[in-house]
Amino acid sequence: MKVGVIGLGYVGLPLAVAFAEAAADVVGVDVDADAVEALARGESTIEDIPSERLTPLVGERLAVSTDPSALAECDAIVICVPTPLAHQREPDLSYVDAAGRTVAGVLRAGQLVVLESTTYPGTTRERLAPILEESGLVAGQDFHLAFSPERIDPGRTDFTVRTTPKVVGGLTEGCSDAAADLYGLICDNVVAVSSPEVAELSKLLENIFRSVNIALVNELAILADRMGIDVWEVIEAAATKPFGFMRFDPGPGMGGHCLPIDPFYLAFKAREYDFPTEFIELAGRVNQAQPHFCVDRAVRALNDVGKPAKGSRVLLLGVSYKAGIGDMRESPALKIGAMLESLGAKVTYHDPHVPEVSELGLESIGLEEGLAECDLAVIVTAHDEIDPETVVAQAQRVLDLRGVTRGIDADHVVRL
Ligand SMILES: NC(=O)c1ccc[n+]([C@@H]2O[C@H](COP(=O)([O-])OP(=O)(O)OC[C@H]3O[C@@H](n4cnc5c(N)ncnc54)[C@H](O)[C@@H]3O)[C@@H](O)[C@H]2O)c1
Repeated sequence: MKVGVIGLGYVGLPLAVAFAEAAADVVGVDVDADAVEALARGESTIEDIPSERLTPLVGERLAVSTDPSALAECDAIVICVPTPLAHQREPDLSYVDAAGRTVAGVLRAGQLVVLESTTYPGTTRERLAPILEESGLVAGQDFHLAFSPERIDPGRTDFTVRTTPKVVGGLTEGCSDAAADLYGLICDNVVAVSSPEVAELSKLLENIFRSVNIALVNELAILADRMGIDVWEVIEAAATKPFGFMRFDPGPGMGGHCLPIDPFYLAFKAREYDFPTEFIELAGRVNQAQPHFCVDRAVRALNDVGKPAKGSRVLLLGVSYKAGIGDMRESPALKIGAMLESLGAKVTYHDPHVPEVSELGLESIGLEEGLAECDLAVIVTAHDEIDPETVVAQAQRVLDLRGVTRGIDADHVVRL
């Protein structure tokens, strides 16, 4: 089996590695020449794939290139390119279009093409298929076409590519069967659904479910603060219910490539059907406002000890959008840092995964040094390397946006 992967980022690289480790010959193609050069040297570009795992594969089972011509020899080609939002927050499918044109240039009869990029229902059939058919071949007849959503969760180790069930939806039954055979090489459980649209919408449902529940608990955190109730204690009490409740925690807001973006793909498509997706818009509004509430809490935490935000030294602890990784995409720490700076605070940060944040013009400083020098330490992202006990012991004042200091009894700590 020869597999081509287009787009070697957070999704494409782990997939290419998984196929290569499953004894497929893999061709990885990316337009980013620097990334391809690094990968060709065996240097991984993402944290989830250590270079030691990559090195033995490169040049053996895994070939990486900016040149897509070797895709012509592949039995299957998987597209893993970005699907961001454009300036007006409408879907930007230009990367999918470009990858589609790349595939159309090499496509031959009998190949399987799979789109993995998260997108609205109808993209595979209405948008990608016509581009691929510019090759003169017909989707579902001359070549197989399917959608299979990626479920990768950067930094997660308890579920892997192999143990996370994989949904596939083909244009025809034959397309679904071909996609199920492909993913059967690397996944223990492949779930075939009846169409690409079902597979596309199932991915959006998963992300919207998280976005809405995070918004709900973020809103509850603001109300609990006003009522003087500890929201973490409330959540822990509710989570003792063994059925009908799933725990979500409040935080500084949503980040990453998925939750702040993907739901709006569906909101956009829904407008074509004259349908307002109220839950999506509301959850987006609440989650986007959360960094403002966090800044308000920081200002109050300083005010409580007679300090104005202006001139105070605020240390952000953890700036990536989630614990354990260095991904800064859409990270709420960017908003929080910028807002504190605009109030005149002197912002610094410590993050073992993020050496510098160009948006804020800052470099990570040492934890001990930062704690010793700040008026307020704000735990934004709870990396394992940042010990809450140390933070509480060494900082003058602490604002905990992640609930990790619960159980530590100290008057100078305030929580979301
Ligand atoms: N990161 C995640 O956790 C995650 C999880 C599930 C789904 N997804 C979805 O998967 C898709 C890819 O996301 P990602 O996080 O891997 O993005 P990414 O930015 O990490 O990687 C995308 C790669 O595609 C390359 N690329 C762009 N256009 C190309 C082209 N025409 N030809 C070849 N290469 C091209 C880029 O250079 C980049 O290396 C998105 O639709 C995203 O929503 C991401």
